[in-house]
Amino acid sequence: MRKQIAAANWKMNLTFQQAEKLIDDVLDANIMLSSNQLVLFAVPYPYLLMTRSDVEDEYNYEVAAQNCHHEKSGAYTGEVSAGMLHSIGVNYCIVGHSERREYFGETNTMLAEKINLCLGNKIVPVFCCGEPLAVREAGTQNNFVAKQLADSLFHLPAEIIRGLIIAYEPIWAIGTGKTATSEQAQEMHHHLRSVIARQYGTAVANEVPILYGGSVKANNAKELFGCADVDGGLVGGASLVAADFIEIIKALK
Ligand code: 13P
Repeated sequence: MRKQIAAANWKMNLTFQQAEKLIDDVLDANIMLSSNQLVLFAVPYPYLLMTRSDVEDEYNYEVAAQNCHHEKSGAYTGEVSAGMLHSIGVNYCIVGHSERREYFGETNTMLAEKINLCLGNKIVPVFCCGEPLAVREAGTQNNFVAKQLADSLFHLPAEIIRGLIIAYEPIWAIGTGKTATSEQAQEMHHHLRSVIARQYGTAVANEVPILYGGSVKANNAKELFGCADVDGGLVGGASLVAADFIEIIKALK
């Protein structure tokens, strides 16, 4: 079975003390994950080491970064490289979140560079794609997300692609409380899988976990994760509340 993943994306929220308590509260729920399940905590950079040591002894709980820079090293004040993340034991990194694309001008080409740097540092990228509202309203979302995948990922060989994690996050559903319906999510996830299958074959496409993101909540996770091609979620707001994120973890297939 494909990996089923509940990924918390805290974004720029919580103090260190609140972060420690949130991790403790989630781990105190003692949810035993099966071998095909994974929980990721994508935390702000200053909390990576704390989180890594908190999850160290927990089976299939892992820490992730929310971003890395698209250059290897150099005069980029305030930035963090994939190599730095690797050197502190971070094995996962979100790449191409829509907030990074929108507010920090990240392009598909830059994201391809980030993907390469992550992979070169043994970091599994969680690659985000998803369309803005205007594209959804024009009905061209399928081509839009296919291009995001093609431009940032399809230079990679099949054996690498099968190890990636993809997150589909329709921008109109992020932080809006307006979740995609499970039909919309399934339709798009199926489309993404067929785009990968066309390029790399069905076997590879069937191995790639595709997470849904955009107003995943404790009360809708079960239905969303129940869709055949939805392999869990990338969760913003609801991951900041222990009780809610615990329910979301429990909703994994
Ligand atoms: P919300 O769950 O707050 O809508 O955020 C989704 C998201 O952007 C996760 O990366």
